[in-house]
Amino acid sequence: MTTVLKKKLRQQAILRRKAIPPHEREPKDRAIRERLDRIPAIQQAISIMTYISCQGEVDTHALIRQWFAQEKQLFIPRLAPPSPQMEAVEIQDVDRDLRLGSFGILEPLATLPAVEDPTAIALHIVPGVLFTEQGERLGQGGGYYDRFLKRVAPKAPLIALAYEWQIVKALPQESWDIPIPMIITEERVIEATRS
Ligand SMILES: Nc1ncnc2c1ncn2[C@@H]1O[C@H](COP(=O)(O)OP(=O)(O)OP(=O)(O)O)[C@@H](O)[C@H]1O
Ligand SMILES: [Mg+2]
Repeated sequence: MTTVLKKKLRQQAILRRKAIPPHEREPKDRAIRERLDRIPAIQQAISIMTYISCQGEVDTHALIRQWFAQEKQLFIPRLAPPSPQMEAVEIQDVDRDLRLGSFGILEPLATLPAVEDPTAIALHIVPGVLFTEQGERLGQGGGYYDRFLKRVAPKAPLIALAYEWQIVKALPQESWDIPIPMIITEERVIEATRS
């Protein structure tokens, strides 16, 4: 039942997300970026893992360029089907080190090595389709992040980026769903209060 409900919520939200025109998204992406820049954990992080936005997700391309300019170490996820595991791969150059991978998402080249120990990464930017103020997260449905986040450093901050409409009152959650303690929207920073 939970799985069916998650699937329905996910499908509706993804359709809505894709339908938002770029001119509506861009000022919100900028506001999210400015808010994120003021977060001490981001300023202090020497290495960051982030998704590469597509299909109407909160933009991370500008962030990636900015973090490279600030000489932070950048890690990007890579899927290696049929394994259900997601890998973290360090890239040095957005144009040279990425290509279209499974699911039509830009991924690090297969020739680049995955990090052996994801606890080496200081901070994680996590994608999501819908969230609650309690930090509950509905993802794309693969379970990749839920599996991966079990392997990251327990102290590494997890930050999600979302538009205000993606914050909902309640979400179905399952035992493996990993909550995200901080969500940044165009209007506010949500520090999840899990009751
Ligand atoms: N820690 C885990 N161990 C084993 N299987 C898992 C784990 N986490 C998730 N799964 C599997 O992944 C499937 C999808 O999970 P879920 O619906 O929570 O995806 P999601 O959170 O939307 O996706 P993602 O994490 O990729 O953004 C589930 O059916 C579950 O069986
Ligand atoms: Mg999940």
